[in-house]
Amino acid sequence: MEEKKGVERFSISVEPDLVREFDSIVERLNLNRSKAIQQAMRLFLSEHYWSKIEGESAGAIVVVYDHGIRLAEEELTDLQHGFREVINSVLHIHIDERNCLEIIAVRGEAVKVKELTEALERSKGVKQIKHTIVTIE
Ligand code: NI
Repeated sequence: MEEKKGVERFSISVEPDLVREFDSIVERLNLNRSKAIQQAMRLFLSEHYWSKIEGESAGAIVVVYDHGIRLAEEELTDLQHGFREVINSVLHIHIDERNCLEIIAVRGEAVKVKELTEALERSKGVKQIKHTIVTIE
């Protein structure tokens, strides 16, 4: 890492396809890579800020998964039973023949909600996860 007049330079390794996709959006938005990465980092920080806070949190976790994958549904259900103390309700939408979307409404200890999102990320068949979590004073 090299420090220079208020900026820090670092190098990262990225899959070529991801770089191509990233660059095409960067170009469309009239940005450059550095500016776009800074925006992405700020977004990442704001999205994950709640996860280091202790106390009460509430929000929604959206999970897209492939129910055609063996045991994916069972694993997700077992997992959610294990976190029933922070799960208020779940809305299930059958997107197409294979894909399901679940909106998991959560409320409880931020630490526990974080554990849940991490467990969902590791879960079988899960393709995408997005969450909006707020902290409650
Ligand atoms: Ni379904």
